[in-house]
Amino acid sequence: MIPSREEAHRLLEDAERSNLGPWVKHSKAVAFCAEKIAMNCVGLDAEKAYVFGLLHDIGRKFGVKHLAHVYDGYIYMKSLGYDEVARICITHSFAVKSLISYVGNCDVTEDVKLFVEEYIEKTQYDDYDRLIQLCDAMGSAQGVVSVEKRMADVKVRYGYYPQEKWDKHIELKGYFSQKVGKNVYELFCEKDLLNEEGGCA
Ligand SMILES: [Fe+2]
Repeated sequence: MIPSREEAHRLLEDAERSNLGPWVKHSKAVAFCAEKIAMNCVGLDAEKAYVFGLLHDIGRKFGVKHLAHVYDGYIYMKSLGYDEVARICITHSFAVKSLISYVGNCDVTEDVKLFVEEYIEKTQYDDYDRLIQLCDAMGSAQGVVSVEKRMADVKVRYGYYPQEKWDKHIELKGYFSQKVGKNVYELFCEKDLLNEEGGCA
């Protein structure tokens, strides 16, 4: 079961009241990006992609956290019966199936760390997992940007970005570009933002 678009917006608004921050605009950009790409892919449900994008970071409702936000989001969505969204709350951060690839602090208990580690290990990623991983790397609080720009920004903010993860996101961009039949960046222009390697601006 997944929430409707309206319910997803209600959940995000509620979460914003608990933790105001640029993550809300980022979530909206990820939703927009995911919907647009899904609309152009055979076999992907654009509505579902939008809701997944909007709620992938919902764990941020519980405060300014790093790795903990994926687990908090998972537990929260599970508690509402939204198992598919719960899955996305975890998988979106692990295009590379390794906790070492996480950019940020490991602010969870050993038990939670083990749970997340096992969860990503046993989960066979589908195109929705991959789509939100890609769009998380394209959605900024200002709008949709190229994967290269977003990753470079994260690198500046955190001081590092694992090469393996960088390569994986570029690979995901290629994967969806092939599905769409053209460079995914071409789906976004002008008011959507993008820039640098992504063109437009
Ligand atoms: Fe995100």
